[in-house]
Amino acid sequence: MTQAKIHVLATGGTIAGRAGSPVRRDYRPGQIGIEEFIARIESFGLDARLTGSQIANIGSEDIDMTVWRELHATALAAIENPECDGIVITHGTDTAEETALLLDQTLPTHKPVVLVGAMRPADAVGSDGMRNFANAVVVARDREAAGRGVLVVMGDLVHAARDVRKAVTTGTKAFRSFPRGPIAAVTPTSLEWFAEPWRPAQEARYPLPDELPPVAIVHACAAADVELVALLVRHGTRGIVLAGMGEGNAPRRLRDALADAVRAGVPVVRSSRVDEGLVDREPEDDNAGFVAARALGPAKARILLQLLLANGITDPAAIQAAFQRR
Ligand code: SIN
Repeated sequence: MTQAKIHVLATGGTIAGRAGSPVRRDYRPGQIGIEEFIARIESFGLDARLTGSQIANIGSEDIDMTVWRELHATALAAIENPECDGIVITHGTDTAEETALLLDQTLPTHKPVVLVGAMRPADAVGSDGMRNFANAVVVARDREAAGRGVLVVMGDLVHAARDVRKAVTTGTKAFRSFPRGPIAAVTPTSLEWFAEPWRPAQEARYPLPDELPPVAIVHACAAADVELVALLVRHGTRGIVLAGMGEGNAPRRLRDALADAVRAGVPVVRSSRVDEGLVDREPEDDNAGFVAARALGPAKARILLQLLLANGITDPAAIQAAFQRR
């Protein structure tokens, strides 16, 4: 078997972070360059030849459209390059789910595209970075990884971009997937898929726009301040995602304010501030013109709504249809 050729796109995060001591609490993300990663992984003797592009070296809380555009263009070039078999993206864990969904919707699925991060910096005792990275290479070189959309590899598990979210603030088992759960188990020496690919050789669902329109997340809480919604509409927000209670609920006054926003031409998507569980359509959605986020949490519902609006999809029924697809 010929060696798989994997292109690594580095963006920073804790996986590239250093503390300067194995036990220090504070550390700086984005300290290790792509050459160092590649040199380290090559010493493991994995059956893959790696090349790399340094896209950025930042904490993922600072990821923005400029980085996303560069990441998308470089990933697309690698997908189109017959010399490349798979792509690994190193990324901070805080916004990994947002980048993963954005790329999932805007890249073709012909080749494996795998996002990987770490919860502990490279020089911490018990660092998970190199193991996660080795696992990501194992996934990216596997042909079975294609046709599943963008994947996230963390803690010896493989998650689909559509389902994954960071659910724990610290510790190495920080990612969960809902509703499907993880779709494979991986170690540096094994890979076991739990299901068949579901999007074989599909084109991108949407082109990546130059800019994403402003979409706000409104967090529902008891006795919430509802004036915020009218302020957002006046400020020019193009869409609102409700991080609702339970199954996307909100106090009556907040629901009324959101219905006013829809009447003013601002689409509203109801998601949940709870980590797991579907937000399904309910009868009031038809009257108010709301969209139900289904399994997407607020941060990812916002990305999908931004992408739809940027591509001219503003009709609530069409937005709902996009939220129903997996
Ligand atoms: C970040 O998201 O860049 C910092 C946190 C992490 O990578 O775990």
